[in-house]
Amino acid sequence: MTSFDFFHLHRPGRPNVRLPRDYLRRSGWVPRIGDIFPDFAAPTTQGPLDFHAWAEGSWTVLFGQPGAFTPVCTTELAGFARAEADFTALGAKLIGLVPDEMDDVTGWIADISQVLGDEVRFPMIADADGTLARSFAMLGPGDSGATPIRKTVLIDPALRIRMILDYPARVGRSTVEMLRLLDAFRAQDSLDVATPCDWTPGGDYLVPAGMDEDEATALFGDDWIELRPYLRVVNATILDPTRRPPCALRPPAPDEAD
Ligand code: BEZ
Repeated sequence: MTSFDFFHLHRPGRPNVRLPRDYLRRSGWVPRIGDIFPDFAAPTTQGPLDFHAWAEGSWTVLFGQPGAFTPVCTTELAGFARAEADFTALGAKLIGLVPDEMDDVTGWIADISQVLGDEVRFPMIADADGTLARSFAMLGPGDSGATPIRKTVLIDPALRIRMILDYPARVGRSTVEMLRLLDAFRAQDSLDVATPCDWTPGGDYLVPAGMDEDEATALFGDDWIELRPYLRVVNATILDPTRRPPCALRPPAPDEAD
């Protein structure tokens, strides 16, 4: 068996865990779902930015990238630029972070416009000395060494972290998935529902775990069914009739009958 540089973390009455010794050298804040994202001031390609003042009241997709003038990052930045209107339509702002000097970031953006035809209009943070990437636990110990990993943090209008995704340097992210996640969170927040595996907008929802029958009926009327006590489906059509044609769970409203 391969021998790793691990140490034993002994805590009485708890499972015995072996952790990489490297963990001892790591400290600092690591973003978690539910945390308020830290406030910071930074130079960006759109001018100086105070993060909380800029982000509060909108959804924010904050994405760290390993560096300017690199292949996967270039396609990601172009992809986010191309999809910006879709993010705006969902009430979300985009902001990127790269460990480069401002001149390099602006030069890279100009080059993307020339090569791929995509205009990056949202702010890109020039985090040349890595202070912000380090503060937000975006520096990867793995295949990207001391440069930022592809960390994406989805932050809600109240500045609370709702989702965190880490990708390695050689795998580009999906703007389609980011938009799907935003749709899922917006459904969750407005309707008090959960979303199933591979859900896409217009699909049925789930009654969230922990919601009792009375609550579900108060919220969803007759428009939910119980497959198992732990698996209850809410008909999307009932909650948002604009999204799908009526289906069997609900008779059409009188004005929809013809
Ligand atoms: C890339 O974007 O392709 C990349 C960036 C940094 C390290 C490795 C790959």
